[in-house]
Amino acid sequence: MRKTTILDLQQKKGRDEPITMLTAYDYSSALLVDGAEIDVILVGDSLGMVMLGLDSTVPVTMDEMLHHCRAVARGAQRALLVGDMPFMSYQADVAEAVRNAGRFLKEAGMDSVKLEGGQEMAPAVRAIVNAGVPVMGHIGLTPQSVSMLGGYKVQGKTAASAARLLQDALALQAAGCYAIVLEAVPEPVAALISQRLAIPTIGIGAGAGCDGQVLVYHDLLGLFDKFQPRFVKQYANLRQVIGAALASFRAEVLAGQFPAGEHTYPMDEAELAAFLAQHRDS
Ligand code: KIV
Repeated sequence: MRKTTILDLQQKKGRDEPITMLTAYDYSSALLVDGAEIDVILVGDSLGMVMLGLDSTVPVTMDEMLHHCRAVARGAQRALLVGDMPFMSYQADVAEAVRNAGRFLKEAGMDSVKLEGGQEMAPAVRAIVNAGVPVMGHIGLTPQSVSMLGGYKVQGKTAASAARLLQDALALQAAGCYAIVLEAVPEPVAALISQRLAIPTIGIGAGAGCDGQVLVYHDLLGLFDKFQPRFVKQYANLRQVIGAALASFRAEVLAGQFPAGEHTYPMDEAELAAFLAQHRDS
């Protein structure tokens, strides 16, 4: 098994071969995603919502991200690993952005980082890349700016805003990004951006014209139903499966059906007799 590289993603774009990316947040989900031969694992700051129960990704901290990244790195052998830089770990100043990006590689086993934003982020991207940390960009619906965007809304719906997205994508490419996530962007806009860029685009709610697709692990598996964006396809309903298993455990314990003989440890008969003889009357 060979580790996926940035060059592999670039070559896939060249061959018109779709790139697959999924989020994972811990050791066991990383084992499953890696075992499914997904090209890229993103330890997304969406963990704030699906793992930590927060209302948005905004409060997620560097320490929380690094903690989850370390667990994912232990479980993934093959996929290219991307750590999501949390809100305010890269926006305030470029030197801080470089230091925080470096922590994802040095302390948490990631291969690269992702950050949100367009042209305004180009100086930070350039500095992080110059420091030796590969960067994936993220434009369109950028959840860390949900208040600025006025909610979780499709971006690039007007000619002017679509043109801004294209300029953002070109600026991020020029700054050194190796790939760009396009989130919640009309399909024709995402397709045109994908054609114009030399680097791969990874779409989420951006249609089939992107070079790859990403979904959130919990959304794909039906583990989280608080938000259900239009672009999510649920490939399983694990909430139902898990709920039924938990209810069966409870019912069997209450009915005295669990644990059964095969779930208990036997004891040598002579040792048991000796034990009972010593303790029967005490
Ligand atoms: O945090 C995340 O999971 C993401 C994906 C939706 C791309 O940024």
